[in-house]
Amino acid sequence: MNAFIQGLPKVELHLHIEGSLEPELLFQLAQRNGIELPYSSPEQLRRAYEFDDLQSFLDIYYQGADALRTEQDFYDLTWAYLERCKADNVIHTEIFFDPQTHTERGIAFETVINGIHRALESGQKQLGISSQIIACFLRHLSEESAIQTFADVLKHQDKIVGVGLDSSELGHPPEKFKRVFQQAKQAGFLTVAHAGEEGPAQNIVDAIEMLSVSRVDHGVQCMTDEALIEELIETKMPLTVCPLSNIKLRVFDVMEDHNIVELLRKGVVVTINSDDPAYFGGYMSDNFNAVSQAHEMTHQELAQFSLNAIDASFIEAPLKQQYRELVQGYLTKTKVKADSEQSVV
Ligand code: ADE
Ligand code: ZN
Repeated sequence: MNAFIQGLPKVELHLHIEGSLEPELLFQLAQRNGIELPYSSPEQLRRAYEFDDLQSFLDIYYQGADALRTEQDFYDLTWAYLERCKADNVIHTEIFFDPQTHTERGIAFETVINGIHRALESGQKQLGISSQIIACFLRHLSEESAIQTFADVLKHQDKIVGVGLDSSELGHPPEKFKRVFQQAKQAGFLTVAHAGEEGPAQNIVDAIEMLSVSRVDHGVQCMTDEALIEELIETKMPLTVCPLSNIKLRVFDVMEDHNIVELLRKGVVVTINSDDPAYFGGYMSDNFNAVSQAHEMTHQELAQFSLNAIDASFIEAPLKQQYRELVQGYLTKTKVKADSEQSVV
């Protein structure tokens, strides 16, 4: 483990809370809720986490989410994630949840949002981690279903900062969700969308133009469109990149081929995130480590991922400034330490 990465204050902007359900907790919840699982142990389940593409992952991920039934389940899930955040020095997190994954199987929207929100409040009080909640529409479902879901989101505007778009990208471009995103914007929600994960660069352009997003989730397919890259740089449009996810879902063959460092050096506002850490083999520090092992980087560059995430976050300006100073202070402190160790040698 890289000590600099471990101590670096981090901000996570792309995390599906259902994707943080570790096999051990999944087994506990299944037992608590009287659910029979088609696996004999958490280890056997973890061994099944081999994916060919996004869809092969989503099939298993939606199955896993079925173990979540009660408000306490959603609380326990979120709390377990926050403990990982604490261990990784994550100071702020903006988490996604998929309301339709739960309402479609008869779990009330309130059960989900109240469990997640209560845990995040405990996280602020007990662990000092600030947070926001983003409700995502599933793009493989209809516009009508998204509009119905938005009615629930609206009732909980005091707890939800924005809306997003996730699930199967191929065959489900942003256009279908133009109207519901317009409604969300008008009601005062911020918007984000998965685009250019395994779908074409045009989905990134459309997410920006049709859905007025403040950030693009993934966005790594921008590499095929030079004009788009120029626009991302000029408009400071953040990309919430998920390196380990991209390897597990075969967006890139190996981390050495990943374009995140190239994008960073071009001046794109890229950030590092864990996406679905229970399924992709790592939380925030693991993602930072995987990138830095495959690509030689300076401390300043690694810290830039945190500074980018602070700028791209939905935090109020004074807290953003406080977090920037925390990262800058950490950089200065580690540089002074490294310089003094060098002068001793
Ligand atoms: N839902 C959970 N993880 C996702 C991902 N990586 N892409 C699209 N939808 C998702
Ligand atoms: Zn995602």
